[in-house]
Amino acid sequence: MFPPGPSQPVTAEHIRLDPLGFLESQRAEFGPVSTHLTEHGQRVFLISSPDIAREVLLAPEERYTKQGTPDDSMLTPLLGEGLLTSHGDSWRAQREYTNPMFQRRRVEQFGGAIQRQAAQLVADWTSRDETQPIRVDHDLTGLTLQVVVTAILGGELGDIGEGFGRAVDAVNAAVSHGDPRDTPDTDVVRADFASFVTARQTIDRIVRLLIRARRFVGTDDSGLPDLLGVLLEHRTPAGEALSDRELRDQVMTMVMAGHETTAKALTWSLYLLSQHPSIAADVRIEVNRVCGDSPPTVAQLPELAMTRAVINEAMRLYPPIWVISRRAVSDDQLSDFDVPADSLVCVSPWLIHREADLWPDPTEFKPRRFVDIESPDPFTFLPFGGGPRLCIGRGFALMEAQLVLATLCRDVDFELWPGHEVLPEALVTLKPAEGMPMRVRRP
Ligand code: HEM
Repeated sequence: MFPPGPSQPVTAEHIRLDPLGFLESQRAEFGPVSTHLTEHGQRVFLISSPDIAREVLLAPEERYTKQGTPDDSMLTPLLGEGLLTSHGDSWRAQREYTNPMFQRRRVEQFGGAIQRQAAQLVADWTSRDETQPIRVDHDLTGLTLQVVVTAILGGELGDIGEGFGRAVDAVNAAVSHGDPRDTPDTDVVRADFASFVTARQTIDRIVRLLIRARRFVGTDDSGLPDLLGVLLEHRTPAGEALSDRELRDQVMTMVMAGHETTAKALTWSLYLLSQHPSIAADVRIEVNRVCGDSPPTVAQLPELAMTRAVINEAMRLYPPIWVISRRAVSDDQLSDFDVPADSLVCVSPWLIHREADLWPDPTEFKPRRFVDIESPDPFTFLPFGGGPRLCIGRGFALMEAQLVLATLCRDVDFELWPGHEVLPEALVTLKPAEGMPMRVRRP
């Protein structure tokens, strides 16, 4: 038996017009598990039940795989075979040798650099002409890109930073507009694809250059190696180092997976705080109480409970990754429902995070709910996914977001630019459709 769903196939075009609206209408009409066919006959299941999300995400790869999902085919041309887009034994080996990159003490050594970069952003914002809006979404993407590059490659991009940032933007834009091979015959898609290829070449060149430079200079042994240092030191059981290609794919994956998402979590946090000044004031009081006049540090983060709650509540309302998909390897069953082999199973944090049975006042911004609950059920709150493919950068992202938010909220007020309407747009990540222009002022 299949779960309920529309009797007619649903076209990709229909979903693309309003993906979140589509998810919500399916949930409202058919319940927490529904199914439809695409115009190409692909069967799709939409899941907003935490129990079924748990079953899918905890299932071994032999049962539900990322291989062959739309995300996988869209990202593989860019990322190659890094941790995000690899499968089977290759993925298992990669997860094992990349894990030490994200050990807590290693990640925490970047706290000072992150805080300084956030303070630099405040200095930049407050020196600008107040009559012009500040695109906080752009600037936060620049900040998180710089942070992840510093952590991975151990240094600043310096002069090449701007070209690198532009190329990353171009690649993101092309990837966000979907798989170029879907509709190869329109001029727009061809132009997008051409700029994607050029931008990818630029990023490739810079990443290879940085890896070569690092090989030449060696790892700085004054402290823990940066994240690339971990990769350079890795040896397979047969004693082999990673190839240039493997290093490139891994660095590219971490850079791309590690900045856009965190930038979105911060952008939505600032938006929600701008709409709730009394909560912004609570965050400032907390930061002042815990940190005094000194810059926030990693050691103080556990005490900044309200700051952390704001980030969690922003990711609940606007999960940067709004859908997580898997493919059924063989015929399967979820609850009482049949799932034929090759079906696409989409777990939606967007829907789960807004289920009224799970979250009282689901559409309201109430960060205190995260102060009151010790730790929410991992499949009721799943901004970082779950199961074996849980986000490897979770600890890094939370530390970064908390340090940045604490630094920004203490020193400046945020006001949405008058007349600007904010609507979420679901591309690869969940972004504000027309950006996030703001007025930023010292209090
Ligand atoms: C707020 C920020 C972030 C969010 C919301 C986020 C979200 C996610 C989600 C939902 C997944 C699972 C996807 C799936 O199961 O299909 C994932 C995987 C992943 N994330 Fe993150 N992420 C964030 C930050 C980061 C950072 C900072 C890094 C690295 C520096 C990173 C690297 C990765 C990688 C490599 C994977 C693939 C893991 C695997 O398949 O084993 N992410 N992320």
